[in-house]
Amino acid sequence: MCGIVGYVGTQEATSILINGLERLEYRGYDSAGIATVTRGELHCVRAQGKLFNLRQKLETEVNPSQIGIAHTRWATHGVPAEHNAHPHRDMYNRVAVVQNGIIENYQEIKAELINQGYQFTSETDTEVIPQLLSSYLPAKPQGDDFLIAVQKTVNRLQGAFALGILCVDYSDEIIIVRHQAPLVIGFGQGEFFCASDVTAIVPHTSTVLYLENGEIARLTPIGVELYDFELKRLRRFPRNLDLTHVSVDKDGFKHFMLKEIHEQPTVVQSCLDHYLKNEAEDNPICLNLDPQIYTNTQQIMILACGTSWHAGLVGKYLLEQLAGIPTSVQYASEYRYAPSPILPNTLTIGVTQSGETADTLAALSMEKQRYLNLSREGKFKILGITSRPESSLAQVVEQIINTHGGIEIGVASTKSFIAQLMSFYLLALDFASRRGTLSREKINNIVKGLRQLPGQIEEIIREQNRTIEAIAHQFSETQDFIFIGRGINFPIALEGALKLKEISYIHAEGYPAGEMKHGPIALLDAKVPVVAIAVPGEVHDKVLSNAQEAKARDARLIGVSSLDDRVALSVFDDILSVPMVDELLSPILTVIPLQLLAYHIAAIKGLDVDQPRNLAKSVTVE
Ligand code: AGP
Repeated sequence: MCGIVGYVGTQEATSILINGLERLEYRGYDSAGIATVTRGELHCVRAQGKLFNLRQKLETEVNPSQIGIAHTRWATHGVPAEHNAHPHRDMYNRVAVVQNGIIENYQEIKAELINQGYQFTSETDTEVIPQLLSSYLPAKPQGDDFLIAVQKTVNRLQGAFALGILCVDYSDEIIIVRHQAPLVIGFGQGEFFCASDVTAIVPHTSTVLYLENGEIARLTPIGVELYDFELKRLRRFPRNLDLTHVSVDKDGFKHFMLKEIHEQPTVVQSCLDHYLKNEAEDNPICLNLDPQIYTNTQQIMILACGTSWHAGLVGKYLLEQLAGIPTSVQYASEYRYAPSPILPNTLTIGVTQSGETADTLAALSMEKQRYLNLSREGKFKILGITSRPESSLAQVVEQIINTHGGIEIGVASTKSFIAQLMSFYLLALDFASRRGTLSREKINNIVKGLRQLPGQIEEIIREQNRTIEAIAHQFSETQDFIFIGRGINFPIALEGALKLKEISYIHAEGYPAGEMKHGPIALLDAKVPVVAIAVPGEVHDKVLSNAQEAKARDARLIGVSSLDDRVALSVFDDILSVPMVDELLSPILTVIPLQLLAYHIAAIKGLDVDQPRNLAKSVTVE
């Protein structure tokens, strides 16, 4: 949430910063701003709304400079307005700050500063930072005074934050701080970059250093110095990134979301290529996890938010049904304030596309601490599933399964979800194979099915995209939708509803099909369409009966089903067709038409599909 970019070097800073913001806009788009030091003065240009507005302002406000910081905002404290936009400055215009995070004790600090005569112009938590910093700066700062003032300030702040700071008296110095919100430094020749996400840096360099929690860095044209919060000098070395998957272009698609839907066959294939060996091997899966994970695990707990939580629900089904391991799935945001009693030999899995979700990271850190306190009474392991192995998640978990989903820009997750599902299939099969809970024949059959998925996803997109677009036209005015599914497709009903809510702003709910008659069926009438996931398998007939119950209440029925399924054809008014597939593997296919349905409804309504209102891609605040 919120994106930070910084540049110091020999090039004109503004265009580098604005291009960086463009690549970070998915993190928030309520306002944007930039601060530079030009001719010995601090200049700040800010605009409410999307980056486009800031670009327009900058056409008339030109401040040439070789140093600057910039920000794209997702509002937490204070409405999305220009006076709340970052960078924020102190009342003497000496210091400018961009922040990603939340300062929890800002009111206490603000009251203190107001008592000292400081005047505030915004409702944000961030504004206390430049004001406080300014109060620690001598009238004529020199040497390390700026750095020391930053250190004093940071030690007063509570919360989770990443900062980029400029001081007018230091026209070739940016100081950045990381405390539980991501920051990465890019190394060029006589120039240095910093950003919340490497996507903003990759056009310039692939040599990067990820800051760790509790670190301060000073960036000047001659180098980078790293310190802890006590200003003890640290030495860590940058590394070279593999940039294969760092593409932030639409590649001819109208929206990133549509592009990312189309990338799903490749994502599945890439996951298979990385983790599947020859079927003739003893165990065809090679996740290379710590062997203790396989021997010790007696139960699994999955922690995640949003779409990743839905992937966790499918994971639970697979781990319990294929590998026989009792599994619970918790909302990280709830769990961190009401954790379950600890059971020995638990494997905790954090699932997060971005690897930066504050609630998921906090819940995992809490578990890590609880396990450390009890380590003599059982064996505990923490695993992460993410498409961003370089993210903050790596600092919390012991091992990561890289989903190989690549960077996702559309705020509504599509290919990340598919990649997470694939990781759970492979993890469950890996356990099943090592523990002998499934026969070799059964495992080989499932693996064979997995290998067919890329082609089948491609087929759905190729054959169904137009049909689904046509169906979508009928629902642009619809106010409410219900999605139902059972068993392994219940989480897909939840995911289908979430996609629709997020980008089309239509109220939608996902329910286990059998639960409808326990209350939600009261909502149904001719104005509330019901989408039912009914693929051949154990719950096929049950879902169709539940769909019939909805039809008897005049609901319009849309089925996610196979065109070869005659019974389904006779029940549903419209079919979003998927190929015939084993029910166990069906979630990888059934979610695709639901993504397309949500996409087309939102696109038909003319909504901003990639940057829906009120949302941000990485939720780095609590
Ligand atoms: C998905 O479409 C959402 N944008 C959101 O629910 C997301 O899945 C959630 O915020 C978790 O993000 P993460 O996977 O990066 O942790």
